[in-house]
Amino acid sequence: MTSQPTPWRATVLTLFPDMFPGPLGVSLAGKALAGGLWTLEARDIRASATDKHRSVDDTPAGGGPGMVLRADVLAVAIDAAGIAPERPRLLMSPRGRPLTQAQVTALAAGPGPLIVCGRFEGIDQRVIEARALEEVSIGDYVLSGGEIAAMALIDACVRLLPGVMGKQASGTEESFSEGLLEYPQYTRPQEFEGRPIPEILISGDHAKVAAWRLAQSEALTAARRPDLWTRKAGQKPLGRGTKNTTDG
Ligand code: ADE
Repeated sequence: MTSQPTPWRATVLTLFPDMFPGPLGVSLAGKALAGGLWTLEARDIRASATDKHRSVDDTPAGGGPGMVLRADVLAVAIDAAGIAPERPRLLMSPRGRPLTQAQVTALAAGPGPLIVCGRFEGIDQRVIEARALEEVSIGDYVLSGGEIAAMALIDACVRLLPGVMGKQASGTEESFSEGLLEYPQYTRPQEFEGRPIPEILISGDHAKVAAWRLAQSEALTAARRPDLWTRKAGQKPLGRGTKNTTDG
């Protein structure tokens, strides 16, 4: 008898477990969840509080506004989750390293992470260090908590799991992981409010279509993402007929 492989798993520690699965329960991710292609466990950090008020936070040492999530409470919550050592332990935080498609691909290829969702002004630094949490940001803006960021990360991983998306994923994936933004897409009708579909796309000339799309991707990337474009320009292979300096 063959045993089923363990599905990819996301374990989320949050003060708002009712927020899950939320948007992850519908559409592509939701169907895959219902179909057993991945599993989700949202655990309530407050269940690990020990005092009679079930408090999870306290005022910041040194003063200042807001409240800080206590190290002892969060440590108990993490330990109670019983996370296997090979699973990544992430903390969603605007202070983290920015999430990339490369990291998403690596996370999707593994067993699935533990994700701690921050709230309040922050989390006691000692538990971040003591439980080796890797801080991850989904962008340079501040959300009111890590839950929506965790959902974004999980969604990006789940769509890459085998059987979730099939062939559809590959195009978008290749384009982004090659460091270019997607070219514009069109479909029927042939004309919309006086705007026709670019003629080249209905020419049937596949080579010309591919060249047009690449040029569009490059122009968009250069205009909108100079950071990606500079990196890309540094990697560009030398064109045909261009003398390669290593050839002597
Ligand atoms: N929590 C609050 N803001 C965040 C962000 N930008 N990324 C990840 N987690 C967050």
